[in-house]
Amino acid sequence: MDVLGIDIGGSYIKGALVDVCTGKLTSEPLQLETPQPATPGAIIEVTCELVRLFDWHGVVGCGFPAVIQAGVAKTAANIDSLWIGVDVQKRLQQATGCPVSVINDADAAGLAEMELGAGVNRSGTVLVLTLGTGIGSALFSQGALVPNLELGYLPINGAPAEHYAAAAVRSRENLSWQSWTQRLNLFLNHVERLFSPELIIIGGGISCEYKVFFPLLKVQSDLLPAHFFNQAGVVGAACFAAEKSHA
Ligand code: BGC
Repeated sequence: MDVLGIDIGGSYIKGALVDVCTGKLTSEPLQLETPQPATPGAIIEVTCELVRLFDWHGVVGCGFPAVIQAGVAKTAANIDSLWIGVDVQKRLQQATGCPVSVINDADAAGLAEMELGAGVNRSGTVLVLTLGTGIGSALFSQGALVPNLELGYLPINGAPAEHYAAAAVRSRENLSWQSWTQRLNLFLNHVERLFSPELIIIGGGISCEYKVFFPLLKVQSDLLPAHFFNQAGVVGAACFAAEKSHA
């Protein structure tokens, strides 16, 4: 079964058709820039444009960069604060005419990795982190997701960790790999002390460069790059929607 997976991020809105049994993309992935300011009206318009580009009328799964409860956005860190309280699922459903399921973007990436990627058969505590515009986090125990964990908000030196160690900070502040991984190590060590994960899976665009920066990371847990790299969110959103549509 194919589902259109969409990953709404702070910088890009990405989409692809996904075979939800294997996680393989069955179309070219497409991406459009996230409009700024990232207001509800503007993001919904660009997401509809993406759905039109695929000429898609079937099930849609959408990862969204906020705490999502029953389809409603409860926070807004890297998107406009007008999103808080908006029923994202309902608005996207109305605008696209498709059945849509919405999930936090990092939770989506985590599901893809646990069901079909780097976390398959890992039943202990697994933490999936996405490093992009912000830091997304998804925690699994015995394969079950604890939704909406917001580790990017953990304070480091008095500010949210994602303002200090996200991948976007590296580009913005022109940090060397060495300086950025020093920051990332602080964050990872903090997180390890709190959750004692057996495995940490790193996703987000920067995970494609894991060969460069993994050797600089100092963690106790096993460490793996996301099997789906930057497409984990798209794949997981599609899998989530497929599960919902059969529920
Ligand atoms: C948001 C999270 C999201 C992460 C990655 C953070 O700013 O609060 O919900 O998962 O960015 O996009």
